[in-house]
Amino acid sequence: MAHSFQDMSLEYFEDNPFNKIGEGFALTTEADGKVNSMTAAWGGVGVMWGKNVAYVVIRDSRYTKELIDKTDRFSMTFFAEDDKKAKMLLKYMGAVSGRDEDKIKGAKITIDKYNGVPYIDEGNLVFICKKLFAAPMSEEFYIDKEIYEKYYPTGDNHNIFIAEIETMLAR
Ligand SMILES: Cc1cc2nc3c(=O)[nH]c(=O)nc-3n(C[C@H](O)[C@H](O)[C@H](O)COP(=O)(O)O)c2cc1C
Repeated sequence: MAHSFQDMSLEYFEDNPFNKIGEGFALTTEADGKVNSMTAAWGGVGVMWGKNVAYVVIRDSRYTKELIDKTDRFSMTFFAEDDKKAKMLLKYMGAVSGRDEDKIKGAKITIDKYNGVPYIDEGNLVFICKKLFAAPMSEEFYIDKEIYEKYYPTGDNHNIFIAEIETMLAR
């Protein structure tokens, strides 16, 4: 049975953002009639252009990159800290590509939708996000060149997406 999430104001977001993001979350997108979810643990939340925003970084090679480029919105689903099943889920969705298998089926998770945007029912907090800005994080812009050399030896660059958090769903 689907869980009941409530639409809540971001005023009530009380988690430590470093922990919440660093523990990993599921970034879910839908395009070409396909829903896919990948694990991410880098990103952030803040304020830009007078809006509450989140930023996520997605490497060129991810199927998620292909899908997110084709859609205006995506979701970020967070899980309870002590949820052991979620840890397995994040491991799986962070190791397998949606290009190779249907991860929603593989992970045996339920997709709910908020105004057509898919998110994961098994989570306990969801951001419904609207893309505002997207750019490749190209080598020439790294001030600390060692970071580029360490993380991008094959040139599989990250792309940054800054998105307005339009809705927070919690249960
Ligand atoms: C804990 C964890 C965090 C991750 N964080 C990111 C991230 O922030 N950005 C990214 O591009 N890939 C990240 N990955 C790797 C992707 O989740 C992984 O490559 C996944 O298979 C991509 O799926 P897709 O091809 O279906 O998009 C992470 C993986 C794990 C296990």
